[in-house]
Amino acid sequence: MKNEKNDEIIEQELELQEEQTQEEITQEKETQEETTPEEETTINEEDVEIKNPEKEKVGIIDLPGVGAATAEKLESVGYRDLMSVAVATPAELVDASGMSAAVAKRMIAAARASLDMDFKSGDEVLKIRETVEKISTGSDSFNELVGGGFETGAITECFGEFGSGKTQIGHILAINAQKLDENAVVVYIDTENTFRPERIQQLAEGAGLDPTKVLKNIKVARAYNSDHQMLMAEKVEELVTKQNLPVKVVVVDSLTAHFRAEFIGRGTLAERQQKLNRHMHVLLKLADLHNICVYVTNQVMAKPDMFFGDPTQAIGGHVVAHASTFRIYLRKGKKGSRVAKLIDAPNMPDGECNFYVETGGLKDV
Ligand code: GTP
Ligand code: MG
Repeated sequence: MKNEKNDEIIEQELELQEEQTQEEITQEKETQEETTPEEETTINEEDVEIKNPEKEKVGIIDLPGVGAATAEKLESVGYRDLMSVAVATPAELVDASGMSAAVAKRMIAAARASLDMDFKSGDEVLKIRETVEKISTGSDSFNELVGGGFETGAITECFGEFGSGKTQIGHILAINAQKLDENAVVVYIDTENTFRPERIQQLAEGAGLDPTKVLKNIKVARAYNSDHQMLMAEKVEELVTKQNLPVKVVVVDSLTAHFRAEFIGRGTLAERQQKLNRHMHVLLKLADLHNICVYVTNQVMAKPDMFFGDPTQAIGGHVVAHASTFRIYLRKGKKGSRVAKLIDAPNMPDGECNFYVETGGLKDV
């Protein structure tokens, strides 16, 4: 309730921004049409070739159909290198720059052709896996459950009822990433206003780290609605590619709360899932391309009574379930402990562990 006013202001700002970009897009379209009227109509498969064969020097500007204005527009929304274009969908590029779908397809094909995007052999993949780092949860049994800690290059999701420890784990990861590497940057997308710098200070002191430095390395973004949340996730890319920050962990706490609050009723479900899917893919790409540990929290709802078994179910349905690499169900256990249950993981058996949330962090039972 208290944020309603804020929400309104932010929403108005976002709308304004949107209007402005729309205007720019139309302007650019007009200029494009003036200067290159034949461009959209004559697309050959052969055009996909890039003029400049020297791979290192090829940039977005060298792609077919990209003028300075389009390149600038794409860069301003995060498409800064060929890889980001190569793994984009045509619709994403159309959204971002207002270009036609045909031009977008051609650009993507050219970016793909110029990059080494072939199959990798199993041993090469193993080599890449060696760059995976594991961020400790502070509890040995919890670490063991997930194969040594929360992995970089993956999305780990914790879902559970209120007070089950989801937010605490986010704070602890922010500390432990910096224990691993004192310069590691943590991005905290806070949708519920539950990020607490005081708690970070406390945990940092407990871990023997300089609280001021730890706080400096945490970039907090308060997201006021789902669009804002999605935008902030997209902006993380800039921190890595533009500002060269060594981002190691991205926390989205909570992943689903805004979506749940904004899309009410069955009629809106498809749209909600579509947006959530887009958001998850932005996060997946971040994890994958920049070897980042993405940690998302999720709520649960009571299952409709046509189902049986566990009475709770995570929000977000298949979209969230499939995109998360590791899924952990948190619940309250005996004597104030918490139980973490591994539901889904690529190379770990399902299992359970118990731990306590304490002032100093997570502790084994
Ligand atoms: P929602 O966001 O409401 O869905 O819950 P959550 O899963 O994020 O819960 P959260 O991580 O906020 O866990 C809250 C619980 O952590 C509290 O109920 C406390 O038991 C414990 N906790 C949080 N901070 C401290 C602390 O400083 N000391 C101790 N001993 N326990 C703490
Ligand atoms: Mg929370």
